[in-house]
Amino acid sequence: MRQRLVAGNWKMHGTRDGVKALIGELKAGIDRVKTAQVAVCPPYVFLPEVRDMLQGSAIALGAQDVCQIDGEGAYTGEVSAAMLSEFDCRYVIVGHSERRHIYDESDTLVVEKFVAARRQGLTPILCVGETLDQRESDQTEKVIGDQLEALFVLEHGADQLAHAVIAYEPVWAIGTGRTATPDQAQEVHAFIRRKVADYNPAIAEQVAILYGGSVKAGNAADLFAMADIDGGLIGGASLKADEFLAICAAAD
Ligand code: PGA
Repeated sequence: MRQRLVAGNWKMHGTRDGVKALIGELKAGIDRVKTAQVAVCPPYVFLPEVRDMLQGSAIALGAQDVCQIDGEGAYTGEVSAAMLSEFDCRYVIVGHSERRHIYDESDTLVVEKFVAARRQGLTPILCVGETLDQRESDQTEKVIGDQLEALFVLEHGADQLAHAVIAYEPVWAIGTGRTATPDQAQEVHAFIRRKVADYNPAIAEQVAILYGGSVKAGNAADLFAMADIDGGLIGGASLKADEFLAICAAAD
């Protein structure tokens, strides 16, 4: 049995008061979730406060991005994996489609971030996914294959997935209300697992592959019922405690 995970990606949302209220509600309701691991990924500035609020709870902390460079230095605006680790982040999202598309992050840079996170013992959530144009021109497997290959070309690259999570997020489904059907998602998840298996079958069996893109309480159970879908990366719906907890419970 693979460990299931539901992670909330808050993106650039939240106020100090709103964050306190949301974490309070999540802590109060987390008993509804029996076996799935739950994580929240707030904006950087809220990490210290959220970490303090989560002490002793079953909810893990994650960040939304990380600098690819280790140590300290003149990198204005960046946050290192060591800093995230000092604030008890367990997870960090790398290669979210908004980073790839708005900030032009390349497959190579994303993998550098992945490696930097691993060096500090963080669990990267490596996002992959195709745009609508790419899907419609039958490029889905090529695009996702390339995104993964950037990791696999590194020595022991695929082995790093023993301590990582993959998230399949079709770009056309993110924040659009247009979810991939369970069959569409399953097809790509199975492809991703096969790609990993080409390098390391044992890790392919074990690595959690999350689906992300307009997951809601109403569609989560059908998605999570698919053989290769091991949980979700949730954007908009992670900002409402009830909705998010219902999605987490659907992953049990
Ligand atoms: P969404 O975002 O759930 O709002 O579609 C998912 C994501 O971007 O991770």
